Amino acid sequence: MSRKERDQVLGHAAENDGIEEYDNPLPDWWLGLFLFTIVWGVGYAIDYHFIHHRSQAKAYAAEVAWAEKKWPKPEVATEAQLTPEDIAAGKEIFMINCIGCHGTDLHGGIGPNLTDAEWIHGGTYKDVVHTITNGVPPKGMPTWGPILGQVKISKVAAFVLSKNTGEKGGIEGAAGQATPAATPAAAPAPDDATGDGAPKAP
Ligand code: HEC
Repeated sequence: MSRKERDQVLGHAAENDGIEEYDNPLPDWWLGLFLFTIVWGVGYAIDYHFIHHRSQAKAYAAEVAWAEKKWPKPEVATEAQLTPEDIAAGKEIFMINCIGCHGTDLHGGIGPNLTDAEWIHGGTYKDVVHTITNGVPPKGMPTWGPILGQVKISKVAAFVLSKNTGEKGGIEGAAGQATPAATPAAAPAPDDATGDGAPKAP
């Protein structure tokens, strides 16, 4: 663009508002960059769709597959699937994470007794998994879901239930609830079903 052509007004000041405008070209570097983005865009689109055959759906699927491998899908075992090895593993998890509040014998301390028939949040396997996963933050029970993950939680829940001597207690008891006729699970628990007279945690 030659100098001569610069700074020429478009000449529409007279039209209405008196505002005048130059008809200067864009700087070369700017125009060059702009044209480059177009060329790049076309090239990228060809590469994306026709050379590497990529797509958003594929990228998403690949990312999900990667994430599933990195963070295995939480598979919460049902009561029936739990093995004695799971309970043993659960015991280790409990000893590391839980005894500070529930005690080595699960009789409670800061947290409630886990061996009796009294459950604040329900005593089925599902309930216990739910309580451990989500915690009860306002009452001081931590949210273990993000810390332990569902697999460990299913094991520690199995351990807790295996130590529960209350009337709903034990893996056997919890599993028994699958056949409704087998156990009066819905019946209200007596105040002290264990009969051990242990003081109840608040
Ligand atoms: C910082 C203390 C603390 C730790 C650590 C802790 N808990 Fe608790 N837990 C509590 C408190 C407090 C409650 C009672 C919540 C309420 O009153 O609602 C509770 C409640 C529970 C309950 C529900 C009891 C019921 O009666 O329904 C279960 C099950 C439980 N905890 C399991 C665990 C397990 C398993 C761990 C280890 C992974 C654990 N807790 C670690 C403090 C703790």
